[in-house]
Amino acid sequence: MSQFRIAVIGGDGIGPEVIEQAIRAAEAAVRAGGHDIAWNRLPWSSALFRQTGKMMPEDGWSLLTQHDAILFGAIGSPGVPDHIPVHQLLLPMRRCFDQYVNYRPAYLFEGVPCPLRDKAPGSIDMVIYRENTEGEYAPVGGRVYQGTSDEVAVQTAVFTRRGCERIMRTAFEGARKRRKKVTSITKSNALVHGMVLWDEAFAAVRKEYADVQSNFLLVDAAAMDFVRKPESFDVVVASNLFGDILTDLSAIITGSMGLAASANINPERKYPSLFEPVHGSAPDIAGKGVANPLAAILSAGLMLEHLGLSDSATALRNAVAKVLRAGKSLPADLGGRARTSEVADAVLAALRS
Ligand code: NAD
Ligand code: IPM
Ligand code: MN
Repeated sequence: MSQFRIAVIGGDGIGPEVIEQAIRAAEAAVRAGGHDIAWNRLPWSSALFRQTGKMMPEDGWSLLTQHDAILFGAIGSPGVPDHIPVHQLLLPMRRCFDQYVNYRPAYLFEGVPCPLRDKAPGSIDMVIYRENTEGEYAPVGGRVYQGTSDEVAVQTAVFTRRGCERIMRTAFEGARKRRKKVTSITKSNALVHGMVLWDEAFAAVRKEYADVQSNFLLVDAAAMDFVRKPESFDVVVASNLFGDILTDLSAIITGSMGLAASANINPERKYPSLFEPVHGSAPDIAGKGVANPLAAILSAGLMLEHLGLSDSATALRNAVAKVLRAGKSLPADLGGRARTSEVADAVLAALRS
């Protein structure tokens, strides 16, 4: 039996609501496999920021490194400017722990209503590999003459050849285990420095993978094709911002934000990786007990896979698929009436059966 130590940051809004259910489900899946997880709940949130002026304590970084992985809910709270939790907690974790692979699968499960016409279950089945440490999210730039009519803000995107190549190689490796097709998302017609380097890196990397079919699409055309012919995508590799936007789109065409899971991975395993739903803290439904916990549960499944608990991970995903197929315990965003805890109850029952 192995024991794993997981840092849990529920965060704000529906974050803690869905993460508590993900813990229940993951715990059940892992126990059935004869393993054990110690969950270390950390109250790092906008509430902590309001009390202390900080999103995490001074020793937060070293504390996190003592864990095998991080399970994260969502941050963002009305009244606290959005950039504060994001820039004090989430983006520094992705960067400082060199989690350069943001892995975001989008799959149309049986039983899930699809907003696109005539889509069979499984016909949309793609994975977006989003670059997660640089690009448009680099905290580089500044502001001068603040508050005056002469104010200037400069936000600089940073693309490095190493940064482009490593996410692209990861995407090609992933494609080899799937339908062997990679689409690179670009905008080199307009963004003449960073995106031209991105394209050149893709041209170099694709040569190492002659067995994998590859193409590129401008991001605006890709947004159209995600809707027009989502079946044509297998693996997609995108920069930080383009990947962010396209993964809300891939989430909604496969049913809901409430189903979209993600993993922020440091492939070298030098640092802990971070697992979180794609969605945010959803202040509009927070505290009502109606949030869909399945994105968080599927994210916990990605974490189990990363920890080497493949059987538990598969069991958890199959249990979610079974609940969706049965259609009796669907949350409001999928057209049902089940509450957050009742959806998780159904997953636990499916795990036992
Ligand atoms: P959001 O993802 O929180 O919500 C968008 C819409 O989707 C809302 O209508 C919400 O009710 C719905 N939704 C999201 N998750 C759901 C779930 N599990 N079940 C049912 N419905 C769900 O995005 P937003 O409204 O743009 O942002 C709200 C806050 O979250 C902001 O502060 C934002 O900065 C933050 N945010 C945080 C993260 C993160 O922590 N990783 C991600 C995205 C947004
Ligand atoms: C996501 C979120 C974050 C991002 C925000 C909260 C900074 O939207 O994980 O998709 O843009 O990466
Ligand atoms: Mn996003």
